[in-house]
Amino acid sequence: MIEGYAVPDFVSNFWHLYIAGITIVSILGIMWFLKSQTTSKLAPGEKAEVIDHTWDGDLQELNNPLPRWWLYLFWFLIVFGILYLVLYPGLGKYEGVWKWSSASSYQSEKDRLDAAFNEQFAPFKGMDLHTVAADPKAMEMGQRLFLTYCSQCHGSGGLGGKNFPNLTDSHWLFGGDADSIKQSIDQGRLAEMPANMLGDEQSAREVANYVLSLGGKPHDAALAAAGQPKFAACAGCHGEDGKGMPAASFPNLTDDAWQYGGSEAAIVESIVKGRKGGMPAIEALGSGDARAAKVHLLAAYVASLGGASAPSAAPAAMEAAGPAVAKVFFEVGTASAPADLAATLQAIVDHATANADSKVAISGFHDPSGNQVANEELAKNRAKAVREALKAAGIAEERIEMRKPADTQGAGSAEEARRVEVSII
Ligand code: HEC
Ligand code: HEC
Repeated sequence: MIEGYAVPDFVSNFWHLYIAGITIVSILGIMWFLKSQTTSKLAPGEKAEVIDHTWDGDLQELNNPLPRWWLYLFWFLIVFGILYLVLYPGLGKYEGVWKWSSASSYQSEKDRLDAAFNEQFAPFKGMDLHTVAADPKAMEMGQRLFLTYCSQCHGSGGLGGKNFPNLTDSHWLFGGDADSIKQSIDQGRLAEMPANMLGDEQSAREVANYVLSLGGKPHDAALAAAGQPKFAACAGCHGEDGKGMPAASFPNLTDDAWQYGGSEAAIVESIVKGRKGGMPAIEALGSGDARAAKVHLLAAYVASLGGASAPSAAPAAMEAAGPAVAKVFFEVGTASAPADLAATLQAIVDHATANADSKVAISGFHDPSGNQVANEELAKNRAKAVREALKAAGIAEERIEMRKPADTQGAGSAEEARRVEVSII
C-alpha cells in the first residue's frame, strides 16, 4: 500500500480528483433530478392530468406525482450515501473520518483469530508430536489446516500424487523425524537440481544405473561401472554415497522415497531435465507464535497419517493406537483382491489377534473415472473382499466394522485412489 493512500489504486492526484468529482457531481445531479420531479401532492378530489401521448391506439397514462414513500426512500438513500462517503473511504483517496481500511480490518480480524487459535493451541505447545497426534481435538484442528493449506498438492488424505510426495508412508525425502517434518512445513523445500550436467543421455543412463546400484536395487552392472566416475558430478549435492543431505533439501537417492520416480527412466529424466519442484514455505500460515503453533499441529497431523518415525521413547498412547492404516490397492474396475493382500494385512491381523478387544474398520474407495453409483458399489465390494480376507485370517466378523467414507472417491492418483483402508479402532 502506498503511504497516505487509503485506496492504493490512486497513484496520482488527478485520478483521485477525477473519480471523487464524478461521484460528487453524480450525487448532486441525482438530488437536482429528484427535486425537479417532485410535484406537489394532489389536493383531495383533484385528478391527475392525462399525459398527451397515446400508446397502442388507446393506452393513456396519468401524470401522478411520485409516491411520497418512494420519494423519501430516495432522499434517505442519498443521505445514507453521503454519510457513508464521509465516514468510510469512497471518494478517491479520501480515507474517511473513521479511517477504516480493508487491510486493517483484515489484520485485526486475523489478530483476533490468531489469538483465539493460540489459546486453543496452548495445551499442545511443547508436547511431543505423537502425543499431539493422539489427541482428537488437536487432530481436528490439524486436519482443517491441512485441508486448507496442503491438500491442493498433497491430496486431502496426504497421499500425494505425481511430483507431490506421499506423506502417509514411511519414505521421506527430507526425513520423517519431528524436526525434519517441521522444517519441511515451516521453511518449505525449494531446491533445484541443474539440468543436463552429464552432457548426453548415455552418461545419464550409466549414472542412473550407478544410482540404482548405490541403493542396492536391480541395475545393469556394466552401465553402473561406467557411471561410477561420472557420479562425481553429483556427489557435491547428493554425497559420495548418494545418501544426500536431507537437511539441505538434497534428497537421498539410495532409499525408496522418490519424488519423481525411482525407475531407470525416471532417474534419467531427473538427470537430463533437471528438477525444480518444491514446496513453498506457506506464507498464509502467518508468522511468529501463530505460525509455530500451526506448524506444530500440521506436523502432528502429518505424523498421524502414519509415516512419521516414532520418538525414541514411544508414549503409551501411540502403542495403544496400533499399526498404521493398511492400504490395499486394486486394479481398475475390479474388486478381486491383489495377490499380496495377506502380507499387506499382516500387521493389522497381528495387532487384532494380540488385542482381543480391538476392532478393525474397513473403508473402500474408488478412482474418479466412471459412473458414481457403480463406483460406490465397487468400493463396497472391495471392502467386502478385504473383510473376507480378515475373516479368513481368523478375525471374527463382529469385530470388523464396515465404514462407508463420506466421500468414497479416494485421494491421490488413480492407482492410489482404488484402495481399501484397514485400521484398528
Ligand atoms: C504447492 C504445492 C505444495 C503445497 C501447498 C504443500 N506442499 Fe508439501 N511438498 C510439496 C512438494 C513438491 C514437496 C517435495 C519437495 C521437494 O522434493 O523438493 C513437498 C514436501 C513436503 C514434505 C516433506 C516430505 C518428505 O518426503 O520429506 C512435507 C512434510 C510436506 N510437504 C508437508 C506439507 C504440509 C503440512 C503442507 C501444508 C501446510 C504442504 N506440504 C503444502 C508441495 C506442496
Ligand atoms: C546442485 C546440486 C545438485 C547436483 C549437482 C545434482 N543434484 Fe540431483 N537433485 C538436487 C536437488 C535439490 C534435487 C531435488 C529437486 C526437487 O525437489 O525438485 C535433486 C533431485 C534428484 C533426483 C530426483 C530424486 C527424486 O526423489 O525423485 C535424482 C534422481 C537426482 N537428483 C540425481 C542426480 C544425479 C544422478 C546427479 C549427477 C548427475 C545429480 N542429481 C546432481 C540437487 C543436485
